[in-house]
Amino acid sequence: MAEVVIVPDVAAGGALAADAIEALVRDRPDAVLGLATGSTPLAIWRALATRGLDLRRVRGFALDEYVGLPDGDPRSYRATIDAEVVAVLGMDPALVRVPGEGLAGAALAGAGAAYEAAIAEAGGVDLQVLGIGRTGHIGFNEPGSSLASRTRVKTLTAVTRRDNARFFDGDVDAVPLHCVTQGLGTILDARRLVLLAFGEAKAAALAAAVEGPVTASMPASVIQLHPDVLVIADEAAAGRLRFADYYREAWASRPEWAS
Ligand code: GLP
Repeated sequence: MAEVVIVPDVAAGGALAADAIEALVRDRPDAVLGLATGSTPLAIWRALATRGLDLRRVRGFALDEYVGLPDGDPRSYRATIDAEVVAVLGMDPALVRVPGEGLAGAALAGAGAAYEAAIAEAGGVDLQVLGIGRTGHIGFNEPGSSLASRTRVKTLTAVTRRDNARFFDGDVDAVPLHCVTQGLGTILDARRLVLLAFGEAKAAALAAAVEGPVTASMPASVIQLHPDVLVIADEAAAGRLRFADYYREAWASRPEWAS
């Protein structure tokens, strides 16, 4: 089972995830991080930036990217990660990869294999940060994604495009229809997963992911197959967890040697 920690607010959640990354990087200055975009992980980068860590050797692999945005488009995940993660943390942008980058048209068919090879060459992802979409997606693995899927081109659902229209001046038609995303199998290969969820809008998806059946209809439920998962949720996102009391008790009484 995943370790579920219910935190009082977003800042506390960000700080807890930053603790996990800090411990990793102090041990391994060239650690490989799996980077997520979206508003959820912002609290992590904010917290991590205050820790006085040298992150210049840390390598990063983004979870996903839109297809079809021009190079340098500020709404691309490459630009978002450069601005919100790399710049904030003082990472080296050359050490951060984004799937499908620089590829278009038919060449995108090879994007997945190339990305998988790059991750393997880096020695695999040490810690993968994950948010969760309202459809239960992680990365851009929408419902129906194979639990064994690898990095590939996917089509976004209408719900996800509507949710992400806020980054496109509210214009849902401007949100790309396609993306390149790490697969669920790719994500499972990371040595540790840290999934964060904040706000009531995520409560149903989080409960289904953590406590529901493992099914491609709820892609985030695949985390139940991973042996080392930390789930961090605020009270609102945790609102539908059946075993919330148990999670609180387990966290409050965790042995000192386990923290
Ligand atoms: C996007 C990203 C996901 C992210 C999700 C939730 O669709 N591809 O990686 O987890 O949105 O975003 P937010 O954290 O802004 O709610």
